[in-house]
Amino acid sequence: MSWRISLSPVRKIVLAGNWKMHKTQAEALEFLKGFLPQLENTPDDRDAILCVPYTALGTLSKSLHGGRVRLGAQNVHWEENGAFTGEVSAPMLTEIGVDYVVVGHSERREYFGETDETVNRRLKAAQAHGLTPILCVGETKAQRDAGETEAHIFSQLEKDLVGVDQNNLIIAYEPIWAIGTGDTCEATEANRVIGLIRSKLTNPNVPIQYGGSVKPGNIDEIMAQSEIDGALVGGASLEPDSFARIVNYKA
Ligand code: PGA
Repeated sequence: MSWRISLSPVRKIVLAGNWKMHKTQAEALEFLKGFLPQLENTPDDRDAILCVPYTALGTLSKSLHGGRVRLGAQNVHWEENGAFTGEVSAPMLTEIGVDYVVVGHSERREYFGETDETVNRRLKAAQAHGLTPILCVGETKAQRDAGETEAHIFSQLEKDLVGVDQNNLIIAYEPIWAIGTGDTCEATEANRVIGLIRSKLTNPNVPIQYGGSVKPGNIDEIMAQSEIDGALVGGASLEPDSFARIVNYKA
């Protein structure tokens, strides 16, 4: 049992796995068999989320029902229905027990034409239907090398958060050069950028995660940083032992 004593409201700790385009339904269930038993002694103040492909949401929703692991999708459309081939709406997600949704991941921005405007529309639609969005922001290597990290992230925040309720929001700072590369951002540098992100928010208690090559070997150091409230984890969330070790990080 750990206690966080503070005069201001305590920020939530959120450990989220982003499976991206991995795992069939059978593989997802196999993962749970190895993962869930390892969460029995996880401190209550940590939220654990699995953001999985649409096809695995229904199956996992049944298996996770009433448990401590919550379910997230990886995108959501802004309309409730309509002629939008290939898209999925918020009511379709909430109906099957989804609580969270990743919005504006750099892979969506880079490969699928996501813009700050569409990110903003998706965020507002998610919230309008009771989903909690996880907004991803972060700079490319070229932007970092050019000294444009802060300006880029501030621009993303300014555009993405127009009209967005900061009482129902999670932000993930994901430097693009650190995603899937094993080249983790220094924990102190991630802490610095996340502090800057927080300074731009109207609600300073928005949980802000770090994402980008988070592993069992670096999670303890990442979570020891004062501004970092959790992690968004890709590759290392695919193996039960590895993601369990991340959720059970040592404080
Ligand atoms: P990674 O991915 O942990 O595999 O670097 C993180 C992400 O893209 O959310």
